[in-house]
Amino acid sequence: MDDERLIADGLAGRLEPDTPEFERFVDITARRPSGDAGAAHYRDPQEHEESFAIALDALQLTREDRYVELCFGGGQVLERALATVPSAAGIDHSPDMLALARSRNAEALAAGRLELAEGDVHELPWPAAAFTCAACLNAFFFIERPRDFLAEVRRVLAPGGRFVLVTARSAADASAGPWNAALRRYEPAVLRALLLEAGFAEATVEQDAAGPQVAVAHA
Ligand SMILES: C[S@@+](CC[C@H](N)C(=O)[O-])C[C@H]1O[C@@H](n2cnc3c(N)ncnc32)[C@H](O)[C@@H]1O
Repeated sequence: MDDERLIADGLAGRLEPDTPEFERFVDITARRPSGDAGAAHYRDPQEHEESFAIALDALQLTREDRYVELCFGGGQVLERALATVPSAAGIDHSPDMLALARSRNAEALAAGRLELAEGDVHELPWPAAAFTCAACLNAFFFIERPRDFLAEVRRVLAPGGRFVLVTARSAADASAGPWNAALRRYEPAVLRALLLEAGFAEATVEQDAAGPQVAVAHA
C-alpha cells in the first residue's frame, strides 16, 4: 500500500490497531513524521496551538533562561521561546522534522543561539544542568521508557529548573482520533510519581474535563 493510501485509510479509521499498516501510519503521521504529508502537517499544526500556549504560559521564560525542547516537531515553540531566551536547544528523532525546524529557525541557528540534535530522547546529548527549563509537547505518549526519559530531562536541568509536559489525557478521548490506540496514557497520580521518582523535587499533574494532561515539575 502506498503512503498516500495508507494515510487516507488511517485518518478514516480503517486500519486495525497493532497491525504493521497501523504502526506505519502512526510513524509517518506522528511518531516519526516523514514525507510531504508529515512536513505539510507539522509546518502549522493548528490542533497543537493550545498546548503551545499552555507550555509557554507555564514556563514564563525570561532572558536568563536556557531552554530545551524534547520532540520539537516543526520547531514552532523553539521559535517562540527564542523571542525571549538568548539560547535554546532541541532534539527530535525525525530527520524531516529536523529539516523543518532548521528552516523555521534558520536565523537563530546561524547566530549560534540554537542547537538542534537528531536523536532519541531516551538519551540526551547534553551535560548535566545545561538548561534552566524544558518542554515536551504532544510526544510523551510515544515514549517507550518514560522513567529513562524523565531521568534524562531531570539530569539536564539545573537545580530549580522547570519542566512542562503536555500529553494525552489518562482516558482515551475522541480528540486523539485515529491515533488513540497508539498512545500511552497515565493517570495523573502515576505521572506525578514518575516525575518524583526521576528526581524532580516537586510536580503537579492536572487534567480537566476537556483538553490535554499538563504536568509541571521543578528540579
Ligand atoms: C506528534 S509530534 C509533536 C511535535 C511537536 N512537539 C508538536 O507539538 O507539534 C511527536 C514528535 O515527537 C518526536 N518523537 C517521538 N518519539 C521520539 C523519541 N523517542 N525521540 C525523539 N523524538 C521523538 C517525533 O519525531 C515528532 O516530531
